[in-house]
Amino acid sequence: MQIKPESLILVIFGGSGDLTKRKLIPSLYQLYKQGKMPQRFAILGVGRTSYTDDSFRPYLDEALQTFLASGEYDKALAEEFFSHIYYSAIDPALATSYPLLKERLAQIDATIANPGNYIYYLSTPPSLYGIIPQHLAAVGLNEEDYDTQTPIRRIVIEKPFGYNLQSAKELNSIYKHSFEEHQLYRIDHFLGKETVQNIMAFRFANGIFEPLWNRNYIERVEITAVENMGIESRGGFYDTTGAMRDMVQNHLSQLVALVAMEPPVQFNADLFRNEVAKVYQSFLPMSAEDIRKNVIRGQYTSGEWKGKTHKGYREEDKVDPQSRTETFVAMRLFIDNWRWKDVPFYIRTGKAMPTKVTEIVIHFKPTPHKMFTDAQGLSVPNKLIIRIQPNEGIVLKFGAKVPGSGFEVKSVSMEFTYDQLGGLASGDAYSRLLEDCMIGDSTLFTRSDAVELSWQFFSPIIDAWQDAKFPLYGYPAGTWGPTQCDELMEGGNTWTNPCKNLTNSDLYCEL
Ligand code: BG6
Repeated sequence: MQIKPESLILVIFGGSGDLTKRKLIPSLYQLYKQGKMPQRFAILGVGRTSYTDDSFRPYLDEALQTFLASGEYDKALAEEFFSHIYYSAIDPALATSYPLLKERLAQIDATIANPGNYIYYLSTPPSLYGIIPQHLAAVGLNEEDYDTQTPIRRIVIEKPFGYNLQSAKELNSIYKHSFEEHQLYRIDHFLGKETVQNIMAFRFANGIFEPLWNRNYIERVEITAVENMGIESRGGFYDTTGAMRDMVQNHLSQLVALVAMEPPVQFNADLFRNEVAKVYQSFLPMSAEDIRKNVIRGQYTSGEWKGKTHKGYREEDKVDPQSRTETFVAMRLFIDNWRWKDVPFYIRTGKAMPTKVTEIVIHFKPTPHKMFTDAQGLSVPNKLIIRIQPNEGIVLKFGAKVPGSGFEVKSVSMEFTYDQLGGLASGDAYSRLLEDCMIGDSTLFTRSDAVELSWQFFSPIIDAWQDAKFPLYGYPAGTWGPTQCDELMEGGNTWTNPCKNLTNSDLYCEL
C-alpha cells in the first residue's frame, strides 16, 4: 500500500499563473483543511514574475478568497496554510536557474527537515514541458534511488501532452531520458472527478448492467461535454490549442475509455491503464474521407446570449481575427473490437453553448418486436444517462404504461443523484489527484503509451484540418453548435441536448 511521505516540497512551475490561482492553491488548501497534507510540507511557487515569499502570499490569499466555494475560507487557517508557501523568481526556461532552484530547495529542506522529497508540478505554457525535465535532470533534481524510489522525485504534467502524435512521441522520449515512468504523472483532471470514477463503480460493482454492455444491446453512445462560457482570458493559449487538443484528445477520450473498457483484473495503476490503452488501440482509424464524414468542427460567432450580445471567437482578446481554431468538435467514432463493433460513439464538446454540462447517454436497442408504443406510435427504447456535472447522478429511462384505457407507453425515469448521498464526497478533482500523486498512486494519471495511442487516432484529424477547404462552421454563441453536426446522426436520431437550469425534478428532460 502506498503511504503519504512525512515531508514534501511541492514545486509549482507557473506559480503565479491562472491554474495555480484557480485550482491548485484552493485544492491544496482543502487538503490542508482536511489534514491530508504531509506533516511537514512546503509549496514553492516558481516563475518569472518578481514576487518574494512575502508578496506571493497575499496574492494567493486573494485568489483563495475568490476561487474557494463560499463559506470555505477561514482566515486563521489560510494564514497558517500560507506560512508553508514560498516563491522563487527564476526563469524556468533557463538552465542557469536550476542551480539556484536546487539551493533554494536545500534551504527549505533544512527548514522543514525534508530529505529531498520533491514533486514538480508543470503548470506552465506547454512550450516548457520539454525543457523543464531536462534542466531538472541536469542538476540531479530527478534522482531517486532505483530500488527504494527515495527520495521522492515525481513530476506532474498538465495537458495538452503534445500537439500531435509526433510531438507527443518527442516529449515522451525527453521524459524517458530524465525520469522513469513511475515518476511521471500526466494529469487529466476529468479522472479526478468523483462521478467519472463512479462510471467504473457503476459498471464493475453491479452485476446487472455488464451483460447488456455491448453491441448486442447498445445501439449508440453519446458523450457531451459543453460549456456556457467563451474562452475568457485564455485567448493566447486557446488560439494555438483548440477544442480537439484542449478537450477531445484527453478528457473526452478518457470518458470513452471508461465506458468502453473491459473490466481490469484489479483496480491498480498497471491493470487499469492497460485497459484504457486497449480502448485507444481499438479506435477505428479514419481515412481523409472518413474524417470529412465523421468530424464536424465549429467556431462561435457573435450571438445574443444571456440577454447580451456575446462576442464572436475572432473578436476575443489575443485571438487572431482570421483564426481557424475550432471551439466546437462533434464526431462519430467506432471501437473496432468484439464488444463494440459497429456501435457508433458520438462525442461533442464546445465553448459558448447554452449550458455547462457533461453527460453520457447510453442508448439501448429497441425491443425486437414493437408491441407497445408511445402516443406517436414509436418504440420507447431504454436509455441510461450518466450525468458527470452538474446535478451529478444516474438515470435509467424505461417505458411505463400510461394509466387508463388502451396500452400507450411513456418514457419515465428511475433516478439516483449524488445529493442522495449527502452531496458529493469530499474535495474536487485536483485535490483528489494531488493527494494520489503524494501517495504515489498513478492509476488516475495517463501513461505514455495511452497518450501516443490516443494521438495516433486524433492526430490525422488535426492534419486534415490544415487543408483550408476543410469546413469550419460558425455557430452563434449560446446555441448548440453548427447545425451540420445533426448530419452525423443516423436513422433520424438527434443529439440529446441536456436541459439548462436543472433541478432534480426536471433533470434529464430533453429540449
Ligand atoms: C480544461 C480545459 O482542461 O477543462 C478548459 O482546458 C475547460 O478549456 C475545462 O474549460 C473544463 O473542465 P471542467 O472541470 O470545468 O468541466
